[in-house]
Amino acid sequence: MTSRVGERGGSPREPVAGAAGPSQGPALNEGRGRGHAKVILAGEHAVVYGHPALAAGLSVGIDATARPGSGRLRVPAWGLDATAGDGSDVGRALAAIAQRLDAPALDVDAEAAMPSRAGLGSSAALAVAIARASAAAIGRAADDAAVDAAVDAAETIFHGNPSGIDAAAAKSGAAGRFTRASGWQPVPVYQSIRLCVGLSGRPRDTAAQVAAVARLRDRLSVADDILAALGKLADEAAGALAKGDVDGLGRTFDAAHGLLSALRVSGSELDVLVHAARAAGAIGAKLTGAGGGGAVIAIAPGHERDVLARWKAAGFEGFMAEIAATPQVRT
Ligand code: MEV
Repeated sequence: MTSRVGERGGSPREPVAGAAGPSQGPALNEGRGRGHAKVILAGEHAVVYGHPALAAGLSVGIDATARPGSGRLRVPAWGLDATAGDGSDVGRALAAIAQRLDAPALDVDAEAAMPSRAGLGSSAALAVAIARASAAAIGRAADDAAVDAAVDAAETIFHGNPSGIDAAAAKSGAAGRFTRASGWQPVPVYQSIRLCVGLSGRPRDTAAQVAAVARLRDRLSVADDILAALGKLADEAAGALAKGDVDGLGRTFDAAHGLLSALRVSGSELDVLVHAARAAGAIGAKLTGAGGGGAVIAIAPGHERDVLARWKAAGFEGFMAEIAATPQVRT
């Protein structure tokens, strides 16, 4: 899998004619929507406590189609089949999305071109795709505040106390800085930057990792200083993206991985992936997302294939992604 990071195209496609609407209420059509996978470049966990984080949406993600039905969701690539209100988290999230959108029962089929629970924002991408497809099916605008409320409700069911960065990146598909107070602000990218994304194969559990950091804050006097430093690195990384300073971005990756390890959210597979990437020529590598399991990202100019080969030899899958330059930023 190769993915361009920062490509636009996050808006859902126009609804297409589908089943006829009922005689009362809004006309029902077939609607489609996309949610993007994302990588967090810096500031994960810090963002939960009000500090900034820097993320980039990937062009790959999830495409959902909604049509009148009985409230069933199918994601064949993940072996997922759920029904609104069936008691599972996904079923509760489906019901919450329908309720926030004031939508009748819809069936949703989703094509996932990203792994689930790999630290790449799969739940947010799914929630955004379902909400956008459902909104399109009932003729609501995709930027309707109700779509945002629906995605937030689903993410709260999945993660308890999400900062909102995953949902914002899943909607955007581009690079952005996020804080709880100011939300998502696009970040200029001076030159495109290639990333290697390595998958640990261990499912991540965002809620558990966020809860573990919350407990550590009660026991480790410097935990808040570490979180503040991670937020500072997010702004340094944003500055590096704007200047096209690849070395500087790599330095922030290494520093962030060290600090995240100090917060105990790394794990043995993630550390193996980070060290293997550095040994293969990466100038910066870090875990991305909540940690515990999930994914790492590495910058290795001219050595991307070496990094992927070294990961493969160690038994890990990986792929290349690119943070696309912002058109006109050089001028
Ligand atoms: C998860 O992708 C990012 C975290 O910071 C949690 C959040 O912001 O909600 C770990």
